[in-house]
Amino acid sequence: MKRLFFLLLALLVSIPVFAQPTIPDYPARYDVGLSAAFTKNRREAVIAKLPPDALALFLNNPLRNRSNDTDFEYQPDRNTYYLTGSHEEGTFLLLAPAGVEVDGKTVKEILFVPPRNPQTETWNGRLFGADRAIKELGVALAIDNTRFEEVVGKLLDSNKFKIYHMPFQDGLEGADAPNPRWMPIITKTIGYLKTQFTERKLAPNRDLLPQILRELRGVKQPEEMRVLQKAIDISATAHLEAMQSAEPGMFEYQLEAVLEYVYQLNGAAFPGYPSIVGSGENTTILHYNTNRRQIKDGDMVLIDAAAEYMGYTADITRTFPANGKFTPEQKAIYELCLKAQNAAADAGKIGTPLNQLSIVAHNVIADGLMEMGLLKERSKFRNFTLHGVAHHIGLDVHDWGGNKIEEGMVFTIEPGIYIKPSEEVDPKWWNIGVRIEDDYLATKDGLKLLSGIAPRSVSDIEAAMRKKGIGNLPNGRLSGK
Ligand code: GLY
Ligand code: MN
Ligand code: MN
Repeated sequence: MKRLFFLLLALLVSIPVFAQPTIPDYPARYDVGLSAAFTKNRREAVIAKLPPDALALFLNNPLRNRSNDTDFEYQPDRNTYYLTGSHEEGTFLLLAPAGVEVDGKTVKEILFVPPRNPQTETWNGRLFGADRAIKELGVALAIDNTRFEEVVGKLLDSNKFKIYHMPFQDGLEGADAPNPRWMPIITKTIGYLKTQFTERKLAPNRDLLPQILRELRGVKQPEEMRVLQKAIDISATAHLEAMQSAEPGMFEYQLEAVLEYVYQLNGAAFPGYPSIVGSGENTTILHYNTNRRQIKDGDMVLIDAAAEYMGYTADITRTFPANGKFTPEQKAIYELCLKAQNAAADAGKIGTPLNQLSIVAHNVIADGLMEMGLLKERSKFRNFTLHGVAHHIGLDVHDWGGNKIEEGMVFTIEPGIYIKPSEEVDPKWWNIGVRIEDDYLATKDGLKLLSGIAPRSVSDIEAAMRKKGIGNLPNGRLSGK
């Protein structure tokens, strides 16, 4: 009887406990770009290159206003992202090789994060908050960014440290910033730091961190290669689809739509830079991106476009005839450009300076244009080539990295030949603008082509264009134009 009584009592007491539903803590993000192990390794690599008395600060980008009360989608500072994996505005990183004591813990890294806030999270999305940042981003200590002044102030009071920071972006000068409503945390933080530098007569160093990050970011780690290769594969597939979708009568923006459809379809959230889709006379404008012209029969189409996947961007250019068949002049210029690209790629050995690749490519182009009679004086080849041919890619489309090729570097080779109408040139060549841009990994055995999914040779392009692409389907287009 007594036992039954206790059993009933226990049941009664436990009912409210069982009835209480657990409130789920939904994730702050659904896909992980850079793992906690990778970013930890990168922070350790930075710490190993810092002087022992350093306090190294990595702040972040402001949210940029687009117009009135609409903002651009947020883009985190690339170095802070590389070192933390966080996309959140208002996330700052402090590295201290000697270790600093905060809240009774001695740590070499502190992540300052936006505090969780139901109002912000209801309007703009969920935040990590300090506890989850420690668990999910793998930092030794995360605290609310509202404590930045208190924590950094104390460290400065100790007079034991020297501040290292990345150069501050223009216009983020504190309370008098152009539009503080959109950048309160970053402007306040920079304003605070500048006041401290003046009042405490500090001479912070803003050269060392860019130097360290340039070295580290220039050589891609296996985890970055996984993400970057995916960006490249998505981009090259998009080029193939756009090429197969092209036909005279379409508008440039319709090919842009095909490209960006393929990006989103494959999980790439943004183009890595504004898509360049130039036809006819627009093929000779290097960064044309209004993309509004109607494509005509006989035009060349130049597409320089690539996806950004998990913060990493490819950079690919393909040029093809709108109607799928090169004219003899288009073919001659295209094949010269391809020959220049292949020559530059063959010259890309470990230890070669990247700018040497431009010299190699331009020599091939100058010789070819002389042979074709398009160039009267060899030294004037720059009138047709207009730009250098190699740059790193990665977290930025023009990524950070050194000039001398090292194993693990990833860069583009992108020779171009641009023929504008002019009295010196036979009209049959006018408005042939060709650029071929591919992405390469430097290995001990030479350069490895990473963007070969998009056809490169004249015969491969013509063969690919005999098939239809997704942009030819009527689905989703309004009737009429
Ligand atoms: N898409 C810019 C460049 O090729 O450098
Ligand atoms: Mn490029
Ligand atoms: Mn490009």
